[in-house]
Amino acid sequence: MDRDNIQFIGQSSAFLDAVERASRAAPLNRPVLVVGERGTGKELIAERLHRLSTRWDGPLVTINCAALPETLIEAELFGHEAGAFTGATRAREGRFEEADGGTLFLDELGTLSMGAQERLLRAVEYGEVTRIGSSRPVRVDVRIVGATNEHLPNMVERGRFRADLLDRLCFEVITLPPLRVREGDIEVLSEYYGRKMAAELGWDGWPGFGEIA
Ligand SMILES: Nc1ncnc2c1ncn2[C@@H]1O[C@H](COP(=O)(O)OP(=O)(O)OP(=O)(O)O)[C@@H](O)[C@H]1O
Ligand SMILES: [Mg+2]
Repeated sequence: MDRDNIQFIGQSSAFLDAVERASRAAPLNRPVLVVGERGTGKELIAERLHRLSTRWDGPLVTINCAALPETLIEAELFGHEAGAFTGATRAREGRFEEADGGTLFLDELGTLSMGAQERLLRAVEYGEVTRIGSSRPVRVDVRIVGATNEHLPNMVERGRFRADLLDRLCFEVITLPPLRVREGDIEVLSEYYGRKMAAELGWDGWPGFGEIA
C-alpha cells in the first residue's frame, strides 16, 4: 500500500505546520485529537495519522458519532450480545473490536452522550471493552483519533463533556487552520479543483480561470 498518497493541497505555513505536526504525532501510538472548523480536512489528517503510524497495515475504522442516534452509538462502539436489547437477534462485535490492531477514528466526538463517554473512558483506560449484555471484557489494542469542530474545554465547563476523557484523548492536539488564515491556499485549491474538474469533463486542457464578468 502506498503510505503517503493522500492529496493534501496547500502551501501556507499555517497548513503545513499542522500537517507536519500530524506526521510527527503519527508513530507515537497515543491518542490524538484533531480540532478544526467544518471542512478544514480533519478526516484527511486522521487518515494520515493512520497511514504514517506503525498500525498502517491494520484497520482504520471510522465512526461518525453524530450520525447515529444516542441509543445505538454504544452498541455500535462496543458491540452487543444476542438478546441484549430488542432487535439484537445476533451477537455483534463493536467498532472497537473491529479496529483491533489499528486505528479507531471517532469523528464528531463532541456529540457523544455522557453514557457513551463513560464507557469510552473505560475502554481507553483499561484497553478493554465489554459488549452490551455481556460481563466479559475483551482486550483490544486500538489507537484512538478523535475529531471535533467543537470547543471541548467549553463543553467540559458546561458539563457536557467529561474532563477525564478529554485529558485522556488530548495527548496530542492538532488544530487545523481555516482557509481564511491559510495565506495563498485559496488560489492553490481552486487551481487544483479546476484542473481536476476539467479532466473529469474530458476537456483538452485546463484554461485557467477567466476574468469576473
Ligand atoms: N488541504 C486539502 N487539500 C485537498 N482537499 C481538501 C483539503 N482540506 C479539505 N479538503 C477536502 O474538503 C472536504 C472536507 O474535508 P474533510 O471532510 O476532511 O473536512 P472535515 O474537517 O472533516 O469537515 P467536517 O467538520 O465538515 O466533517 C473533503 O472533500 C476533503 O477532501
Ligand atoms: Mg469530517
